[in-house]
Amino acid sequence: MTTAATALPLLALRITAGPVELRGITDDLLGPLADLATDIHDPDFMPFSFPWSLTPAPDMPRNVAQYHWSKRASFSPAQWNADFAVFYDGELVGSQGFGTKDYLVTRGGETGSWLGRQFQGRGIGTAMRQVICAFIFDHLDAEYITSSAFHDNPASLAVSRKTGYTDNGTERFNRLGKPAIMRRIILEPANLVRYKHDLTVEGVLEFRKSIGLDQDEEAAEEKAPEK
Ligand SMILES: CC(C)(COP(=O)(O)OP(=O)(O)OC[C@H]1O[C@@H](n2cnc3c(N)ncnc32)[C@H](O)[C@@H]1OP(=O)(O)O)[C@@H](O)C(=O)NCCC(=O)NCCS
Repeated sequence: MTTAATALPLLALRITAGPVELRGITDDLLGPLADLATDIHDPDFMPFSFPWSLTPAPDMPRNVAQYHWSKRASFSPAQWNADFAVFYDGELVGSQGFGTKDYLVTRGGETGSWLGRQFQGRGIGTAMRQVICAFIFDHLDAEYITSSAFHDNPASLAVSRKTGYTDNGTERFNRLGKPAIMRRIILEPANLVRYKHDLTVEGVLEFRKSIGLDQDEEAAEEKAPEK
């Protein structure tokens, strides 16, 4: 049966590793994610380069939904985002994403993530980052993954270090009108610190095709004479 996931295989992608599950963000998850997003950090600290988390609570459902709908609308092999809802022991806890441009050429992209505040500091951020990085290297043939965090975000920098990322320079950002140092970091496959549980992946063949991988095999199959 043709479904929304036929149009966008990301919606049916599921990655499971022990208690961690990453699911493509279907419409039914947008409201619960928006609820979690209303409490990610203290009001006097901004971890994100774009301060979307300051959106007033009544506007958060539209903000979160429009962000994900816009990423769906512009999804193509030339530029795509794979954002996942993260479940831990079956409970929705936050979001983990990977975004890239010209992936077929560059074979790399950038991770980003957040957890509802009540789920922070329990090792879940490290687990979900280790899981997505293993997925991107093992199942999508990536050759590097970058990330970045403001200098005063020790939790995010610790997660990156514990996943195997190394320093890759700094950049000065305009953070809410004041200069702030963004630390850039990079992970190569050999440095990945793997999560203690193996990954089980559903829907990856369709997803690979949707980002332009496996086109040669598909063309070869079409050309092959029928037996
Ligand atoms: C960043 C984030 C995803 C990390 O997830 P998490 O589950 O809280 O992180 P973990 O529990 O896996 O690990 C955090 C590590 O940071 C360390 N840490 C946290 N606060 C720290 C501090 N103030 N100083 C030093 N280290 C700190 C912890 O000790 C832990 O390391 P350890 O296990 O070696 O002790 C989560 O905290 C979050 O959503 N923060 C708000 C949004 C955000 O910053 N997103 C990232 C934007 S770049």
